Amino acid sequence: MKIQSISAFQIFDSRGHPTVEAQIVLENGITGSGLVPSGASTGQYEAWELRDGDPERFRGLSVFHAVNHIAGEIADTLRGREVSDQRGIDDALVALDGTPNKSRLGANAILAVSMAAAQAAARGLGLPLFESLGGGGGTLLPLPEIQILGGGAHAQWRTDVQDFMVVATGARSYEEALEMTFNVYRSAGDLLEAQGKRFGVADEGGYWPQFSRNEEALDLLVEAIRHAGYIPGADMAISLDIAASDLFDEARGCYRFRLENRVFTPEAFADLMTDWCGRYPIVSMEDPLADTDWEGWQRLCRAIGDRVQLIGDDLFTTNPGRIRQGIAAGAANAVLIKLNQIGTVSETLDAIRLTQAAGWRPVVSARSGETEDAFIAHLAVATNAGQLKVGSFSRSERMVKWNEVIRIGRRLGDRARFAGGAVFQRSVN
Ligand code: PGA
Ligand code: ZN
Repeated sequence: MKIQSISAFQIFDSRGHPTVEAQIVLENGITGSGLVPSGASTGQYEAWELRDGDPERFRGLSVFHAVNHIAGEIADTLRGREVSDQRGIDDALVALDGTPNKSRLGANAILAVSMAAAQAAARGLGLPLFESLGGGGGTLLPLPEIQILGGGAHAQWRTDVQDFMVVATGARSYEEALEMTFNVYRSAGDLLEAQGKRFGVADEGGYWPQFSRNEEALDLLVEAIRHAGYIPGADMAISLDIAASDLFDEARGCYRFRLENRVFTPEAFADLMTDWCGRYPIVSMEDPLADTDWEGWQRLCRAIGDRVQLIGDDLFTTNPGRIRQGIAAGAANAVLIKLNQIGTVSETLDAIRLTQAAGWRPVVSARSGETEDAFIAHLAVATNAGQLKVGSFSRSERMVKWNEVIRIGRRLGDRARFAGGAVFQRSVN
């Protein structure tokens, strides 16, 4: 199954911002495409998203250079290659780029081609993507981590905390987890409506928050869980993405809650996170501290790492080198996995395997700017990652991922497994 041609063009993500789509055509006529998502609260160590920066076109956001790199250099390099050799293709892309952060060709150009190759290879074999990516070993349906309120960079800083999410720890099946989340999401909407605070949704489909303190949002989550008829902490738990790198003032060395006009030393901020975990049924916290605050991460991990999942997103940026560093330092116990933070499918698989080998947990994640592609649903099942974070329970670019897991479950039939809340007991260090 050799690659005959590769083309690319500019499409638009869920925010209507330009992004890249690549298409691979094999000599046997089979095609595969790759659609690249885009973050808003991006980590400083992420692979480089190449944008044209031309103020005359799409306010500088167009991706025509990345598209041209695919149609030119990348197509020339990969034409005639065996498409099922994902590792060889990805190594060739990395070598062709030649920079440590994929800034010459653009990680968006490279990832589009890498994903397109994976899809073409699966189709060529007549397999669903999760089967070909996982070598047939992927059978674990993920526990969904679903946003109820979206704040931070995704809602013009209406709250300092970025994602207020719920996890159906008491669910016995993937479908039940979705039903429970549906109920809590709707309850939260009803409660906000009753308070006159329902103002539509943020970038990832969670309700647009309107609070004067971050803890009011936590209180609302607990109330919404109860209102939907569930027991907070038993049936449904809370998961937060603090996205603390966005709250950290590097120059002053302090964290800031703009909403509450409060400033914290790194120690005080870590203490606040510990305090929230004591007072609310929180099972998971992502980026509770900034991506440069290694000491804070270690301190927090020693304090609550035995009972709370501590996920590094900006801290690790799906980069195997940084994950290795984090494992050696005992800085977290879970890793957020985003394909476009590192830029190839193979390196993403490396990041997941490295995480699992350390007894840590991978959480496969979407970006705030998403596409209609459901690649990550397949990635989560292929690798038995156990958890999937896609945003909220509305908007098609989110629902397409949740729905794809339903389809994968049907395809797996009796082979499908679901661990529910037990994923949090697995290998917490
Ligand atoms: P982003 O947000 O895609 O804007 O980076 C998602 C996250 O922080 O997890
Ligand atoms: Zn995050």
